[in-house]
Amino acid sequence: MRQASEGGKGAPHRPVLLEETLRCLLPERGGLFVDCTLGLGGHAEAILERSAETRVIGVDRDREALRLANERLAGFGSRFKSFHGDFREIRSVLREAGERTANGVLADLGVSSLQFDTAARGFSFRFDAPLDMRMNAGEDEETAAELLARLSEEEIARVIFEYGEERKSRRIARRIVGRRDEGRPVSTTRELAELVERAVGHRKGTKGIHPATRTFQALRIATNRELENLDEFLETAIDLLQPQGRLVVISFHSLEDRIVKHTLRRLSGKCECDPRAPLCSCGAQRKIEILTKRPLTPTEVEIYENPRARSAKLRACAKLDESSVD
Ligand SMILES: C[S@@+](CC[C@H](N)C(=O)[O-])C[C@H]1O[C@@H](n2cnc3c(N)ncnc32)[C@H](O)[C@@H]1O
Repeated sequence: MRQASEGGKGAPHRPVLLEETLRCLLPERGGLFVDCTLGLGGHAEAILERSAETRVIGVDRDREALRLANERLAGFGSRFKSFHGDFREIRSVLREAGERTANGVLADLGVSSLQFDTAARGFSFRFDAPLDMRMNAGEDEETAAELLARLSEEEIARVIFEYGEERKSRRIARRIVGRRDEGRPVSTTRELAELVERAVGHRKGTKGIHPATRTFQALRIATNRELENLDEFLETAIDLLQPQGRLVVISFHSLEDRIVKHTLRRLSGKCECDPRAPLCSCGAQRKIEILTKRPLTPTEVEIYENPRARSAKLRACAKLDESSVD
């Protein structure tokens, strides 16, 4: 494990499923595109390069990412604007930018390489650093360590089980709370990684993912409330699209993808209620056409060149014209 000071910036973030994203978003038609997860601006740059008639509003809750993206995209002048904030506030971001609708919306969910490879951000067990994990670094939210200090043993186990799909969640939670009761709360990435290894019985040299991978993923999702209101955000994004406008969502784990899949299905008019329910209560409405019957995934070449793309799934839809809506 490396010390926090060694982490550096690592490899620059490579935009995932870039060609597939452009094929679905159609930036060559021109107009306004909202990149809700600007990151280092890789997707935004490609969108802007496709046509001189294209404008991009980029949103990110990470100020360091915004700073770097602003530098990268400065050459596009007034065709690019950035906003610091949560994409769940997309409606007010558009209003603030003096816009009412968009021709395309992109959400490339999850963490960027900048966040993951900067040791001090505390996202990775590859480094030893304070257990922070906030995408909105240093701002109002609780760090992952503070979350572990506040939640009950049962709540910690539930987070690790639900968001990490970790079968040994109870065992891990018991150890986390055990340390806390001894006055030694988990406060660094190394402490958590070692605790998980002991709880799940990791043997050095064994193949497969690191035993702490699932727990770190779970804690990151909980710290950043990544799944909270994701469905509402998708619905708002679709409402803000012009007819024939496109929404593209890239997700990196099954929980996220499940929400995207079901929300898009519901908004394509398919009832998602229990088939035994006498009345529909899921709010199914025909607003969109789904463009990806099955999610698009990276090619073997992309995974070889960028292993972090391996779990990516892209889903896209087009907003229907008013006349085709029920
Ligand atoms: C996978 S990266 C995006 C990379 C970007 N597409 C690129 O090509 O550089 C995801 C970014 O979304 C941001 N993010 C995640 N959840 C967010 C939210 N709810 N609101 C705003 N930004 C968010 C993260 O801070 C991160 O910078």
